Amino acid sequence: MPQSHKLQLSKKEMKQYGYQVIDTIVEHFHTEHSKKPVAFASRDEMDTLFKTEAPENASDFKEVLDFVTKEVLPNSNIVSHPKSYSFVPGPSNYVSVMADTLATGFNIFSGGWAASPAAAELEIVTMNWLLKLFKFPAKKGGGIFTSGGSMANLTALVTARRQRCGDDFSKAIIYLSDQAHSSNIKAIRVLGFKKEQVRIIPTDIEFKMAINKLKNAIAKDRLEGLQPFCILASAGTTNTGTVDPLNEISKICKAEKLWFHIDGAYGAAAILSKKGSQLLKGIEKADSLTIDPHKWLYQPYEMGCLIVRNHKWLSQTFTEKPEYLRDIEGNTSEINFYDHGIQLTRRFRALKFYMSIKTFGLNAFKKAVTYNIDLADKVEYLLRKSPHWEVISPATLAVINFRYNPISKSFSEKELDSINQEISRRIVESREALLVTTVLQNQVVLRMCLINPRTTLEDIKETLLLGESFAKEIV
Ligand SMILES: Cc1ncc(COP(=O)(O)O)c(C=O)c1O
Repeated sequence: MPQSHKLQLSKKEMKQYGYQVIDTIVEHFHTEHSKKPVAFASRDEMDTLFKTEAPENASDFKEVLDFVTKEVLPNSNIVSHPKSYSFVPGPSNYVSVMADTLATGFNIFSGGWAASPAAAELEIVTMNWLLKLFKFPAKKGGGIFTSGGSMANLTALVTARRQRCGDDFSKAIIYLSDQAHSSNIKAIRVLGFKKEQVRIIPTDIEFKMAINKLKNAIAKDRLEGLQPFCILASAGTTNTGTVDPLNEISKICKAEKLWFHIDGAYGAAAILSKKGSQLLKGIEKADSLTIDPHKWLYQPYEMGCLIVRNHKWLSQTFTEKPEYLRDIEGNTSEINFYDHGIQLTRRFRALKFYMSIKTFGLNAFKKAVTYNIDLADKVEYLLRKSPHWEVISPATLAVINFRYNPISKSFSEKELDSINQEISRRIVESREALLVTTVLQNQVVLRMCLINPRTTLEDIKETLLLGESFAKEIV
């Protein structure tokens, strides 16, 4: 029983605790496919299980651990499950899980060079890997790991505003498409821009930012004496995986002297595959690019990333020099990452990226991403051949949208919406698969995001069959 005010366990207890934790995680990795990916629980049920006052006295550590293993862990969706198709799955990998455990175990402060030279160096090394992958300037370029894509987008927009507008941003205008991720709207709000400073550019029939409409909006704003300062493009929209016309947007940014930010949180990782790098042409021209390793680079939460063409843009935006950090400033080559972003105290995120790439090799990651993209293509083929399903947006960067619309019957759009909503509801309720809807051009559709390298075509066929069997009951 741990009684000490030093908050310690004995060495023997620590080992017992640790072995049990590792056994639980390893067992999970090896059995998750046979579990159900969906968890349901009401607030009342959770309150009944967990609500308690903070205990004054110690408990047996094994009892606490057993309780958590039995009650807490199963009451979450399994985002790494092969049949977890919705939102953006989190396939993760075991090596990175262990790397996170080491980083946390040693509680490494990854803010300044002096506190952890190796952690700063690994962030520089892994950032260089990413700069090279995305063909950003090797010497001048820089970047920072963040908690996720939302924070990377926020960091980018703070930098863009600082570089292009200075302190007065009252007339600054930012452009993004109606398919851009909501985290960007949040970031814009956090930054204090008014609604009138945001232009939501409509997308074309393929869900790409409409270039003509973008040009018109910029021209009109200039005529009104406003200050266009940033275009935010998506490299893989969350809804459909669509990549905005990056080369064309880059040209506009150059001609108009605008900051070019690309939100590649969903799709940038596709650069690892041939097909993906074709679709992502022009990504290398961004001033700043959000990448989100906890999505399609298979890292566990939390790990986002922002890279920029010039590392000085980050230090010029985020450096503060309080007297209490005076002694750890170091020289300019020894990067203090607290000067490159918002956080001062930061966990050692680079370690998991470093260890997983070193262990599996970049080739394994390339194969995994290629597998994901090919799998989505196969699913599209399967759906097109089927008399039950209709493809609504084709497989793009491992995302595909489709709906139940059998050739043997004729339904109104409204009926199709409710049938597909109901199919999704029943699939999720069965807990066999996580397959939810989105809305594309006013149609309710089923959306599959296939970035898990352990998802098989067989898994998908089973899910489609399940959907068909529910559809038969519904119509
Ligand atoms: C395109 C895009 N941008 C940004 C985000 C936000 O990233 P995060 O959830 O890591 O904060 C997402 C998340 O799905 C996304 O798909």
